[in-house]
Amino acid sequence: MNISIILAAGEGTRMKSKTSKVLHRVCGRPILEYIINASKGAAVEKTVVIVGHGGDMVREYFKEEPIIFKTQPIGEDVPYGTGFAVMQAIDHIEDDSTVIVLYGDTPLITESTINKLLSFHNEEKFQATVLTAILEDPTGYGRVIKENGDIIKIVEHKDASKEEKKIKEINSGIYCFDGKLLKYALGKIDNNNAQNEYYATDLIGILKKEGYRVGAYTIEDSTEIYGVNSRVQLAFTEDIMRKRINKFHMENGVTIINPDNTYIEDRVKIGRDTFIYPGVSLEGDTEIGEDCIIRNNSRIINSVIKSGVEIESSTIEDSFVDENSHIGPYAHLRPHSHIGKNVKIGNFVEVKNSTLKDNTKAGHLSYIGDADVGQNVNVGCGVVFVNYNGREKFRTRVGDHAFIGSNSNLVAPVEVDSWGYIAAGSTITKEVREGELSIARASQVNIQGWVERKGYKNQK
Ligand code: UD1
Ligand code: CA
Repeated sequence: MNISIILAAGEGTRMKSKTSKVLHRVCGRPILEYIINASKGAAVEKTVVIVGHGGDMVREYFKEEPIIFKTQPIGEDVPYGTGFAVMQAIDHIEDDSTVIVLYGDTPLITESTINKLLSFHNEEKFQATVLTAILEDPTGYGRVIKENGDIIKIVEHKDASKEEKKIKEINSGIYCFDGKLLKYALGKIDNNNAQNEYYATDLIGILKKEGYRVGAYTIEDSTEIYGVNSRVQLAFTEDIMRKRINKFHMENGVTIINPDNTYIEDRVKIGRDTFIYPGVSLEGDTEIGEDCIIRNNSRIINSVIKSGVEIESSTIEDSFVDENSHIGPYAHLRPHSHIGKNVKIGNFVEVKNSTLKDNTKAGHLSYIGDADVGQNVNVGCGVVFVNYNGREKFRTRVGDHAFIGSNSNLVAPVEVDSWGYIAAGSTITKEVREGELSIARASQVNIQGWVERKGYKNQK
């Protein structure tokens, strides 16, 4: 049985934040979620997450996950440190299990690396194995001390001698242990060190000293073990994750013109032959179809965009856009907008909680709120769907082939049937039936000679 213990109780002091460190996001997902997902891939039957500082927030966020949470007591009189954190899981460690210990602040770690570590640990019949990395700048990390190629112990940066600080092989914070021996070694660690903390790293040295088989497995891509302790490191991690995500999409047949300038969150899906221009941000559970063009500075959040859609400099939230439609430039689809096929939403048009069926056009400067608009409707420039009386919201229904002249107001609740035709500048408050022309504006009066009579012409 494989058990994973993920440590996420630390104070995260260096983040200077009200939010638990492990809930800070990298490409749209909390740091801890990446570690939980990576460990899930390692045939883990039980995941124990140790929470402490900000623990309630962490529990709440992951309440749907099949996770056992244990709370590490936090306070001035209680011990502290990664070793003390592992101790909190002791009741869940079975003697004949393999325990994978992971730190909750290393979001770049992959499932494949954890599996390689596990295989190495099992094949070499080690009783404890640590995942290490070679870093050009190992500052801050625990150093791996070896003798004749064998790992002897891990020394924390703050406890390391001048010579030890020169070592470039570092501890990733990911280990495999034989369950029984892990429990045994936990009983032996103390806080006799520079930080007066119980170090998980000491478990390695203790077992080695007692003659157990202890190994070190060095990761190929050292960026995977990068830990987030500060906001600067958070940005660094984000940069690597963003590149990883963008590369994944490019390898799947998406053109990203300037990957350094394109922000795609972890859960986003994109179809082949879609083009993404610089400054685009694709967030949350967004799905983009094939052959789309997403032009500069568009932001799409939790939305489904079907194939062949073109979006220019627009914001789309919690909405659906069907095939071959064109959105923007400068349009805003607010939540629950459902846009049909071959629809055109043009310059400065805002849509909210509305359906626009196939081939409908709203090209310029309109507000379409709480409306059900049929097919082949023409919404003229400057049309406002007046959905709010200051207290309540109402819906408007517009049938197929209707024509809504420019600068009209449709005061909800109101209905315009199919082929209804509304003259420009009308304020519509009553139903317009099929095929009717409706004009609702003061008729025009032209007064001859008025300007001359007023003497305006002579005033230059
Ligand atoms: C730790 C390792 C170091 C390693 C580095 C890799 C120790 C003593 N040091 O240092 O060798 O190179 O990670 O990133 O283990 N945590 C708890 N409870 C605690 C303290 C920490 O749950 O009492 C959790 C934190 O939330 C964090 C993780 O353990 O997710 C690591 O703690 P952190 O303080 O970041 O350790 P580092 O100083 O980075
Ligand atoms: Ca850390």
